[in-house]
Amino acid sequence: MRWVALKYVKPGFVLAQRVSDERGRTLLAQGIVLSESYIRRLNRVGVRAVCIHDRATDDVIVNEMVAEPTKAELLTLTYDTLSELGSGHFSPKMKPTFLRKKLGPLLEDVIQQLREGNGAGEQLGSVYIADGELFHHSVNVTFYVLTLGLYLNLPKDDLLNLGIGTLLHDVGKLRVRREVLQKPGRLTPEEFREIQMHSQYGFEILSALADISATSALIALQHHERMDGSGYPNGLMGDQIHLFSQLTAVVDVYEALTANRVYRQAYLPHEAFGLIMRDRGTRLSTVGVDAFRETISIYPLGMSVRLTNGDLAVVIQASAGNDQQPVVRAIENARGEPIRPYELDLRNSPDIQIETCES
Ligand SMILES: [Fe+2]
Repeated sequence: MRWVALKYVKPGFVLAQRVSDERGRTLLAQGIVLSESYIRRLNRVGVRAVCIHDRATDDVIVNEMVAEPTKAELLTLTYDTLSELGSGHFSPKMKPTFLRKKLGPLLEDVIQQLREGNGAGEQLGSVYIADGELFHHSVNVTFYVLTLGLYLNLPKDDLLNLGIGTLLHDVGKLRVRREVLQKPGRLTPEEFREIQMHSQYGFEILSALADISATSALIALQHHERMDGSGYPNGLMGDQIHLFSQLTAVVDVYEALTANRVYRQAYLPHEAFGLIMRDRGTRLSTVGVDAFRETISIYPLGMSVRLTNGDLAVVIQASAGNDQQPVVRAIENARGEPIRPYELDLRNSPDIQIETCES
């Protein structure tokens, strides 16, 4: 099986995993043969990629890092929570103990699943396909940061505080004007300052909630601080920045680089990884970048990629560590015709590399 971005899905493809909506309800069951109208429907509801069967990759077993229903529930809850916190008036059910009560057990479930997946490594779903929407971004960043937290053997309470703080780290953006957040062109200095205020706003929102720990609120305040003092809002350096904020910063930067933004195309995973490695020990925390490098496979198993020779290939062996180039199997030529599959270890392939990701 392999992941394919919806824009590359053709009628006749067979679903290898069910597709569900944001609330976890099944839209299309596993095994369904996709038709034009199904594809249109998936497009309409905003599905970005599907996992499909195909004979050339049937030996590739793709597991989600976090089970679909759990992820769907977390997305819904994050959406509701962020909207309520951003609006500034909470409904009765959102009163103080609500957040921890609702988010706590769900995050514990996520942590357990990530733990069982051995820190998720090669099974991490692709963040490349995610759009820039606040709650998708928040959920992705949270899965990644918890993977780093598990690698660093943080105790359970710390993992929970790290998870809650990361999930809500950008809540302050809801107080920034939409037209500034989504402005396609260059920002004026005033607009830039307005966006930067989201750290402070987020801290104010979270500090006011009795059941959110101080360390969780600090993540909102400090996730744009940089180790060399070049960040905002306070230009903190090194250990002045809480470890949780250091970890969130690494993942937040990676996720932002690999997501399409209104003003630029996404970087390829290995380009973004290179940029993170470049900042290791200067702008970004050494501990955080090292944990990222050791646990995250930036080209996860089953991801579809277009090679520089025009062939379509699928990742069949993910890699982590210093060299993130995976082993791939080419299955189609540039015209979309099946070819006799061949495998390529991109670490030893100077001539052929990844051109784009197609899932
Ligand atoms: Fe932020």
